[in-house]
This record gives sequence, C-alpha cells and structure tokens, in this order.
Amino acid sequence: MIAYLRIAILAGAASFGSQAMAQDLEILHWWTSGGEAKSMEVLKKMYREKSNAHLKESNIRGGGGFNAMKALKSRAASGTPPAIVQMKGPEIQEWGQQGFLTSLNEVAKEEKWEQKVPDVIASYMKHKNNWVAVPVNVHRVNWLWYNKELFAKYKATPPKTLDELFALADKMKAKGDLPFAHGGQPWQDATVFEAIFLATAGPELHKRLFVEQDEKALDDPRVKTVFENFRRYVSYLDSNRAGLDWDKATEMVISKRAAMQIMGDWAKGEFLKAHAVPDKNFGCVAVPGTDGLFSFNVDSFVFFETKSATSKKAQNQFASIVMSEPFQIEFNRNKGSIPAVLDVPLQDFDSCAKLSKEDFVKASKTGGLLPSYSHQMALNVDMINSLAEVVSVFAQSQMTAEEGVRNFKKVFKGNKI
Ligand code: GAL
Repeated sequence: MIAYLRIAILAGAASFGSQAMAQDLEILHWWTSGGEAKSMEVLKKMYREKSNAHLKESNIRGGGGFNAMKALKSRAASGTPPAIVQMKGPEIQEWGQQGFLTSLNEVAKEEKWEQKVPDVIASYMKHKNNWVAVPVNVHRVNWLWYNKELFAKYKATPPKTLDELFALADKMKAKGDLPFAHGGQPWQDATVFEAIFLATAGPELHKRLFVEQDEKALDDPRVKTVFENFRRYVSYLDSNRAGLDWDKATEMVISKRAAMQIMGDWAKGEFLKAHAVPDKNFGCVAVPGTDGLFSFNVDSFVFFETKSATSKKAQNQFASIVMSEPFQIEFNRNKGSIPAVLDVPLQDFDSCAKLSKEDFVKASKTGGLLPSYSHQMALNVDMINSLAEVVSVFAQSQMTAEEGVRNFKKVFKGNKI
C-alpha cells in the first residue's frame, strides 16, 4: 500500500528525513481541537525545557487522523517525511515494513521501557522487535458522555442497556430535547457503530471480524441487528449535522443543546477545557451494553529515519520525555486519556480516568480488552475508510440492514462497494 512511496524516494527524491533546519524537529499530528491543542502545549513546554531543538509543528485538522495519514503519504512521496509522526496500530508496521522508521532501542534499553509498558501496548510500538514508537496514552472509545442537568430534568440515571438508552432518548425527543450530539464525518459514524456493535454482538464477534478479519463472522445474525440498532440510533440525530466536527458536537452537550454523546474520552478533554466538572456538570459511563468491555485506542509517535545525528539525538530526547512520568500525568490529565506507562500514580486524575483504569485492568483479565477498529488499532486506514463509508451511506440512506451487511462483506473480500 505504501510501498510505492519508498520506491519514489529511492528513485531519486531528496534524501529522506526532516528537511527542516538541523535544529528543527518536525512533528506531524492531528491534535487541533481545543482540548487536544491544550494537551499538545504540555508536550511542547516539556520539550522546550529539556532540549535545544525547536519543535516545528505540522498540524493537520481532522479528528481520527485520517487527513493526517493522507498528508504523511504525500510528504513521504516527495522525500521529506517529518522526523516524528503521530500514528497508530497496524499503520506503524506498514511504515516499518517499508524501511521508513528508525530504532529507539538504545534509549529503550537505557530506560528499561520493556518493564514500563504492558505487552498489549508494547507490541504496537515495535517493528521486528525494535522499538520504533512511543505510546502517549490509552484512550477508551466506548464511552457515553452526558449532561447532568439534562439527565436531572428527566430524573434519569445512566442507562444500562441499549433498550434503556433508546427509551430515554424517546422521552427526550418527545419533549423537544436533542438526545445525542453527533458530528458529520464518517469516522464519527464508525466510532458509534463500533460501540453499538460491541453492545449488540459482543466481544467474540468483534474479535473475529475486526481483529482476525474472518468475514464469515458477518453471517452471524447479530451483525444484522447491529445495523438495525445503529439505524435506531441515527433516528435521534439532528439531520443538520453535515460536516460537524466531533468537538463541536461535544460543545453541544456541554451547553445543554444535546443530552449525550457517544465518543472516546478525548471528548473529556473538551469538557475540561470548558471548565465543566466531572460528576457535577457531566457524567461518563461505558456505552450501555458494553459494561466490562474496553475498546482501546493508544496514541503514539513514530520516529522516521533521519540522516542527521543532531535530529537523531533530538528524537531520542523527545521519546524519553513522552515516556517520563511527569509527561504521562500532565498530558493525560488534559487529554482525557490514562497513562500508557505502568505504575504511574492516578491520584491527581478525575473519576472518569480512574474508572477507565479500573475497567482496563478488569477487561484485560476477562478478554474484554479490544483494539478499536475504528481508531486504527486493528485494521489499516484504507480498510477503516471503506467500512466507515458503508456505515455513513447506510446512515444517510434508506439502505436495509441486510444491504449494510452485504456491503461490509464486499469490503472484507476486497471488492468495490
Ligand atoms: C483519535 C485519537 C485521539 C483524538 C481523536 C479525535 O483517533 O486517538 O487522540 O485525537 O482521534 O481527533
């Protein structure tokens, strides 16, 4: 998939590695919302304090990182990939496979990363046993965020099942309140679809389909029910949501223009940035029907091969900061996630983060820890985009659940939809 990029470079483009000034360390990322940018400030500040190199940001708008991955491909094709790139999951292996990434083994050994990162996360960070990336955090994707004041208006407690969720949404809709804030991009549809998949079809089927990519899993009748439940969810959405960004949707919950949002805990970064207080102004619970399940999404930075020794040194310094306890605490308190490094104390984190950690530990013992397919932890970007397109077209049309399943089948078979 990205092989041609490597060929383009070997065929004579300028030497790869950052083309910026020697002391510039370029970082490509997609953290541009209010909460994300505030978290990024933490990283920039810590880096400024520790290094002489200047962090040059290339920030690409677009939640989920799909625009950023596109931008990276064109940078690589022109022979000038940035020195550091925000990237996740199987994409890391693909870029490693093409020989773009540099090894961090020296600093990893010195700082004993092997003992600091749980295996489930470390495996994503290594290519052929070499550390090529560092984990920033653990985001949980299957969260329901709700406005406490609006819940109080309905004397509602957090629903435990999808049926209860939809019954509450019916009440809200009848009284003219918008039950769910939901943005207008395919990756946001995919995020909710995955949560509804888990609530409806369970973890085993999720693993079979999205991790093992066993397309026969689609013959299970529960997949059709997933599409039906998703159709029901869509019936509560504002039809005027085209192009709406995820953080603008979160803002609707903060300002009581909507009661709930199904979104990963980067949404909490927006609540906090707006000075909304957990348990007082807003609440967080696992998406109804997914209690005990933890769909995980680990943000990480990968390091591209560079010819300059100064850049290499600056990259190592950067990696070391990301792996440090002060960074893991400060960054994640802002970002909504929990630390990816083991044994980092959570006493200064809020109740949602504490619940997240508790559920992460529980789920890892019961088989409920699942790599989020919609957030690039199980499938590559092309595959995710195709599946997301099916779900979005389904949401915007009268397509039947059977047709939805059939289109998923086409994607898994590698056929055009
Ligand atoms: C996710 C990413 C999060 C958050 C979100 C919205 O894929 O892991 O850190 O940024 O996209 O942009």
